[in-house]
Amino acid sequence: MLDRLIAVVRRAGDMIRNAHDIEKDTHEKNGAADLVTKYDVAVQTFLQRELLALVPEAGFLGEEGEHETLDKPWVFVVDPIDGTTNFVRHMHHSNIAVALVHEGCVAYGVVYNPFTEEMFAARRGGGAFLNGHPIHVSDRDMSHAITMCGSTIYDRRFTDRSFSLMRRLYDLGLDFRRFGSAELDVCYVACGRAEVFFECRLSPWDYAAGSLILTEAGGKITRLDGSPIDPYRGGSVWATNGICHSVLTLLK
Ligand code: IPD
Ligand code: CA
Repeated sequence: MLDRLIAVVRRAGDMIRNAHDIEKDTHEKNGAADLVTKYDVAVQTFLQRELLALVPEAGFLGEEGEHETLDKPWVFVVDPIDGTTNFVRHMHHSNIAVALVHEGCVAYGVVYNPFTEEMFAARRGGGAFLNGHPIHVSDRDMSHAITMCGSTIYDRRFTDRSFSLMRRLYDLGLDFRRFGSAELDVCYVACGRAEVFFECRLSPWDYAAGSLILTEAGGKITRLDGSPIDPYRGGSVWATNGICHSVLTLLK
């Protein structure tokens, strides 16, 4: 199943890599920070068709379009383009994210940056891989940690909280980054490029696939209050290499 998911996602990646005239058909959904391009819609339509052909009995929860009820045993949780603002501005740091969830637990996760051709993938219990090679979180402690963050641009009520957390983590760690694609941030922790990622509010398709890749790579992911994440319901995300996870208690 993982290989089949990877093959579908790779084909979707061709649609993104070959995109042109991106700005022409870009619309604001809920303000200037929340964009949708014709490619977000086209890639989701493609993924929905191809993924449901693989698992016809599955439900489908995607960022673009209607959200169906999630009462089926198997559900795809999909972001056709995570990092849409990067995509519109040709920053080449975006991804396609597909999670296949079974009874509320992510069973398979695939995150693909078509520009760098980095394919992160995991099956529950089977380890995590980058382009077929096993990956693992780093063993750096907080004083050596790079923290990545999202600024929760879609909801400015979280701005003060986001920046005070960033400031606190900057003081505790080595440095910070803000790349603009939550799924890739989680995968960067998984493969040891960084140690911590947080965002005060995300949608499930922004972290569902990456959450399995991270835990299979030895990392840990919870809400900012330490409670478990949910692949169907959005909320905050605190994703670490495990060693840095308890830093949460210093952030209250
Ligand atoms: C966004 C990106 C961004 C994060 C936002 C997300 P989108 O996803 O992951 O890094 O800060 O909160 O919504 O809208 O580009 O799919
Ligand atoms: Ca998106």
